[in-house]
Amino acid sequence: MRSKIVAGNWKMNQTFQNADELLYQIGEGMEKDFPQDVELVICPPFVYLELATDFAQEIEFKIGAQNVSQYDGGAYTGEISAEMLSSMDLDYCIVGHSERRKYFGESAEVLTQKVNQLLEYGVQPIFCVGEQLEDREAGKHFEIIKSQLQEALFGLSQSEFANIVLAYEPVWAIGTGKTASPEQAQEIHAFIRSLVAAKYGEDQAQETSILYGGSCNAKNAKELFAQTDVDGGLIGGAALKADDFISIAKSF
Ligand code: PGA
Repeated sequence: MRSKIVAGNWKMNQTFQNADELLYQIGEGMEKDFPQDVELVICPPFVYLELATDFAQEIEFKIGAQNVSQYDGGAYTGEISAEMLSSMDLDYCIVGHSERRKYFGESAEVLTQKVNQLLEYGVQPIFCVGEQLEDREAGKHFEIIKSQLQEALFGLSQSEFANIVLAYEPVWAIGTGKTASPEQAQEIHAFIRSLVAAKYGEDQAQETSILYGGSCNAKNAKELFAQTDVDGGLIGGAALKADDFISIAKSF
């Protein structure tokens, strides 16, 4: 059975004090009726990872980074390596987020390098794909998603791919309040699963978690998560409010 995952991507938000408070509140929220079969993942900025790992000693959530260097350790000022993330026992790292593709020019080649680094050090990539609004309006969304997967991921071996979590994040839905409809999400998630099946076999496709991201909130999560091929969410804005984040995780 594939995992149900709700991951919070804090992006470049929160002071240290706010991060501490938010983690505390999330911990409190998890104490009551939290579903046993849902994996909660928190992806804070790098500088708060240690704080989050301290909380995770007491509270059952997993921790992810938002980025990783494509290089192995060494003279790369300002970068954070996969080995460093692994040495802090992180479970996940987001790769391929549209903000990194857009603002930091991350190409498919760089994304592949990042995925390879993470796999080498045993950190699971949460790999994001998603089309721009103009792609969807031009009817190119299937094609775009397919090429993003093929270019960055489908060079992996079967055993490597088994460690990948996928996230479908239509760029037009990220931070806009304009969520994909449950039908739109299901259509793409099923398409992604069919591509994984064609490349790595039906068993692997059934085992791969595919999260939805893009203005997912406490109101719309239930309907989205009810879709057959939606296995959870990658949550931005709503992950910054403990109540909303917890209620999203309880939406299965
Ligand atoms: P959002 O962001 O929930 O604020 O739309 C999602 C994401 O970018 O991962």
